[in-house]
Parts: sequence; structure tokens; C-alpha cells
Amino acid sequence: VVDIRKLYGQADVFTYDPGFTSTASCQSAITYIDGEQGILLHRGYPIDQLAEQSSFMEVAALLLHGELPTKDALDKFTHTISRHTMVHEQLATFFRGFRRDAHPMAIMCGVVGALSSFYHDSTDITDPKQREIASHRLIAKMPTIAAMAHKYSIGQPFLYPDNSLSYTGNFLRMTFGVPAEEYVVNPIVEKAMDRIFILHADHEQNASTSTVRLAGSSGANPFACIAAGIACLWGPAHGGANEAALNMLREIGHTSRIPEYIARAKDKEDPFRLMGFGHRVYKNFDPRAKVMKQTADEVLKELNISDPVLDVAKELERIALSDDYFIEKKLYPNVDFYSGVILNAIGFPTEMFTALFALARTVGWVAQWNEMIADPEQKIGRPRQLYTGATQRDYVPVASR
Ligand code: ACO
Repeated sequence: VVDIRKLYGQADVFTYDPGFTSTASCQSAITYIDGEQGILLHRGYPIDQLAEQSSFMEVAALLLHGELPTKDALDKFTHTISRHTMVHEQLATFFRGFRRDAHPMAIMCGVVGALSSFYHDSTDITDPKQREIASHRLIAKMPTIAAMAHKYSIGQPFLYPDNSLSYTGNFLRMTFGVPAEEYVVNPIVEKAMDRIFILHADHEQNASTSTVRLAGSSGANPFACIAAGIACLWGPAHGGANEAALNMLREIGHTSRIPEYIARAKDKEDPFRLMGFGHRVYKNFDPRAKVMKQTADEVLKELNISDPVLDVAKELERIALSDDYFIEKKLYPNVDFYSGVILNAIGFPTEMFTALFALARTVGWVAQWNEMIADPEQKIGRPRQLYTGATQRDYVPVASR
């Protein structure tokens, strides 16, 4: 028996922690989660208070700068962001290279990565001023890019930003407005959308944020790092779950079919999982899901929509939360369980859901990236491994194999 760790000079003790379930990769002062208690704080402020009383721009300023801004500081920040909402005209040409049926997340990965070729000045990560400008550019341009991805897929012309509107109102107009027609932003929808953005703004070291940090740890430029985060977010176990959850609820279709799907989720031979259920950290409840459920009720009422999918969702939650399997495994609805119902009611196609998540999470990614770059203890991220392959052996020429 050969100890392969000694053979390869790896006699040091490493922590083997697949999925990083108990390894902190950094120090951070941005977001705090207590999964047992269902607590989520941004810079110390509870998520439900922020979702109820704040705005997405204010939460963005809070995450980036550490304190709630004064009225003047918030106005200045909002004005600065609105000054960066336009994208380079050449970027519209870049969009036209994608197939019409491209998934918006595929477009977002490409276009956001390509921003580094348009804004050379803010790729200098050693200059704090340039880091700030890059952060503003990313936060400001994400709604424009997401709306363009949608417009491109449905064959409508792109709409330029209207900076007299709020960040969220502007995004709704660029997505649903058409040229030469006035688009009136529904304040209830605007508020709900803003709240959805707040609920998705940051969530400490989740997979996509860790990806942004890991990419950034090599000194890669911020546009490339955020593009890496978008790629990671796309997966159905992460940001893609909102799309998957609504598709699943539609597939269930009627409350009478719920027991069949609950049985499938419990069957270990079946790879099926209840999408929008379960979380790596929350083992009591996801505080974002509570706000999302309430918002779903408000938006559907305002828009006078009676969606059977919402009934299926509520009944599924009720049945699952009284089922021993879900109780024992501490599986609760997560933020994505109800968000799809709201986005669908507002008029977004399911393919756009994860792109909206990316738009909102850009604020958190950028805040985390800035914190990492400014951290004097920051090193290139370089996980170790537990080698399980062959021990050293001699090469065999092909004729002798
Ligand atoms: N449905 C049925 N069973 C589940 C579910 C689910 N949604 N989630 C977890 N389980 C079960 C697993 O089968 C496993 O059972 P076992 O102990 O018998 O093997 C146990 O619960 C633990 O699951 P893990 O996958 O080990 O938990 P992990 O923390 O790695 O995964 C995750 C968390 C990925 C969120 C998982 O719960 C899941 O796949 N949920 C569905 C997808 C989803 O909603 N993702 C969104 C997450 S929130 C976000 O990204 C914003």
C-alpha cells in the first residue's frame, strides 16, 4: 500500500470539504445569515425591513458603502448610476450576433464579459477610483443589457434608457415599452419589482458570489468576474431554480396532482427534486420566501390575475411542510419558490427569470468583489485536492499497450 499523499509530497493535513459546507473562504462585513433562525442581515439591517421600507438603489448604496446613505448621498448615488445606464452603440451590433432563440443568460454571459472590451479604463483594478467607476457601470448597465436580451428574443427594437424614471421603472419601460408609445409604469408593479431586486441583492458566499471572488482573486477585471458569476448563477441548483420552480408548478398544474410530486421528491431512485425547496444554509425558513409570498398576493391582486399556479404553490408548501421527509431534512420554500409566480404575472417569460436575478445580484457581486480587492489579506484562491488517481508509473509506448 502506497500512501499517495506522501508520494506526491502532500503529507500536510488538508480539510476535505466538498461543496465547502463548513469552510469559510473569506472574511466579510457585508451580509450575515443565521440559517437555523432564518435571519438575513445586510450590513446589520434585517432583510424584511429593507424589503418593506427601502429601495433597491438604497440597498445598493448600503451594500457598497457599508451605511444607509443620507438623502443627499442617495440622490447623488442614484444620479451617478443613471448617468451610466447607456451601453456603447457597438454593443447593439454584438447582440445581433446571437441567435434569436438564445437563452438570455447565454447572452448575458457574453455581453457582460464583452464590456471589458468597451471600458478599458475601468479594467485597472489597482486604482480605487476605476474600481468604483466599474462598479457603477456594471450596476447601471445590467438593466439595459437584460432588457435588450428580452427585446432581441422577441424581435422588437431596443429602447434607450429614460433616466427620468427610477432604476426599476426604467428597466420595466425598456423591457415592456415600445417605441412611439408612452409606457406608464404601474407603481405597484414597480414596487414589487424593486422588492424582488432587494431580496436578490446579496447572499454572502453562495456559489456565484464565490465564483466572482475566485475569478477576481487572480486579478481578472470586474466585467470578466461578473460574467463568471452570471455563468455560475445560471445552474438550476442556484439562480436557475426560479425558472425551474415555475415550470414545475405549471407541470403539476392542479392541486390534486401534488401528492404524486411529493412522492417523487421523496423517492431516492428518482432524481426529481421540488424546485424552489431547500437551501444549503437555511434550515428553518428562508426569510426572503415569506416576503416573496406576500408580494405574490399583492401583485396578482393589483393586476387582477387569478393564477392557478399560485394555488398549487401554496398547497404544495402546506403539504410539504407537514410531511415527515421535508420536516426531517429541514426543507422549506426558498426565495425562488414564489418569485416565478410574480414575474410571470408581471409579464416576463420564464427564460428571463434568472437574468433578473443576475441583474439584482450584480450589486452583491460588485460589493463582494470590492471588499475582496481592498482586503490586504487577499490571496489568489487556490483550493487543494485529495488526489485519488494512479500512483507514479512508467510510460508505455503505444505499440506495447
Ligand atoms: N426536494 C427533495 N429533496 C431535497 C431537496 C428538494 N428540493 N433539496 C434537498 N433534498 C434532500 C436531498 O435529496 C438530500 O437527501 P438525503 O439526505 O437523503 O441524501 C437532503 O435533502 C440534503 O440535500 P443536499 O443536496 O445534500 O443539500 P444541499 O445543501 O447540498 O443543497 C440545494 C441545497 C441545492 C438548494 C437543494 O436543496 C436543491 O437542489 N434544491 C432545489 C433547487 C433550488 O431550489 N435551488 C435554489 C436554491 S436558493 C438560490 O440559489 C437562490
